Amino acid sequence: MAKISVGLDIGFSSIKVVSLAKEGDQTRLVSLGSIPCPQPGMLSDSEIGLQAVSTSIKKLFEATHIEQKEINIALPESKVFTRVIDDLPYLTDNELAQAIRYAAEEFIPMPIAEVNLNWQVLFRADGKNKNTRTIVLVVASPKNAVEKYIKVLNMANLHPKILETEIIAVTRSLVGNNPFSPSSLIVQLGATTTDFATVSKGLIWLTRSISTGGIALTRSLAQHFNFELTQAEEYKKVYGLLEDQLEGKVFEALKPIIDIIAGEGRRVIQSFEAKYPQDPIKRVVLSGGGAKMPGFVIYLANALGLEVQEADPWYAIAKDKASVSKLAQDAPSYSVAVGLALRED
Ligand SMILES: Nc1ncnc2c1ncn2[C@@H]1O[C@H](COP(=O)(O)OP(=O)(O)OP(=O)(O)O)[C@@H](O)[C@H]1O
Ligand SMILES: [Mg+2]
Repeated sequence: MAKISVGLDIGFSSIKVVSLAKEGDQTRLVSLGSIPCPQPGMLSDSEIGLQAVSTSIKKLFEATHIEQKEINIALPESKVFTRVIDDLPYLTDNELAQAIRYAAEEFIPMPIAEVNLNWQVLFRADGKNKNTRTIVLVVASPKNAVEKYIKVLNMANLHPKILETEIIAVTRSLVGNNPFSPSSLIVQLGATTTDFATVSKGLIWLTRSISTGGIALTRSLAQHFNFELTQAEEYKKVYGLLEDQLEGKVFEALKPIIDIIAGEGRRVIQSFEAKYPQDPIKRVVLSGGGAKMPGFVIYLANALGLEVQEADPWYAIAKDKASVSKLAQDAPSYSVAVGLALRED
């Protein structure tokens, strides 16, 4: 019997779901779909707002014929505190847990009792060699944020099996745990935020999130041309960063915002390389709905001086011939949902 696993990505602009079947060492696509997210989505603090999100989730599960109730979800980077702690000596598991709690108090701007702490050991120091250091990726998720997500799921009669962060899910679908893939910067351009992660040997070493995303690009266009948001959105998707379109006017309006994103990407690469000089970043993987913006791949390649690829979260998943080109159209939008569905429990 195939084991079905479901990943649900509750984004600001749309909710996406992916269901995968694992049979032996093959993973097959069962179902996928998306639905617009009623605003303000998970940013809502009212019962009615959250109910609306939950109703959309129910509709999406009906439309995609997904019957599983235990599903995997992700918290956005903007809601969690993620840090790599890299100066720990060799420690037993118990000592490590204590050291992480202690270190976490420094980077979490709220009482530690109000967060859930999770971590992944990236490198374990050698007990005999005093020069080696233990490196851990620590994620602190505020309990009230977690509860909000669980509440919305429960209203849709669903239950979270795994709750992780978006960038961890994205990294799984785009790089997997292949220790030989080139060291990469992942750029996830969503509606509200852009998230960054440097990934080496299949592990995340640095993350960052900025509140400049696709909406900021659309707003900039709307202001520049005095357009309605819907029209600006259309122009963004059709002309994007193509300099030779409309005398470069759309490009000019988007450039200042894109340069914020490119500049942050450059800083993330620099911080990573300053710490790990023997491990230069070799490529950039562009993900999220914004990855499809015309001209973006080339613009970023020139800005960063690196090879840039559009994300393909479906690369390791078996699909029938008929769906290949259809999946490719929207591929970068599904990185979070695919990564969540790929998670082993
Ligand atoms: N072809 C395109 N060109 C440019 N932008 C695009 C294109 N397609 C989608 N987008 C933009 O991508 C964004 C949506 O991406 P995505 O679905 O990854 O976001 P989300 O998950 O809903 O939001 P968030 O991750 O911020 O919660 C929107 O701002 C949309 O305008
Ligand atoms: Mg998203």
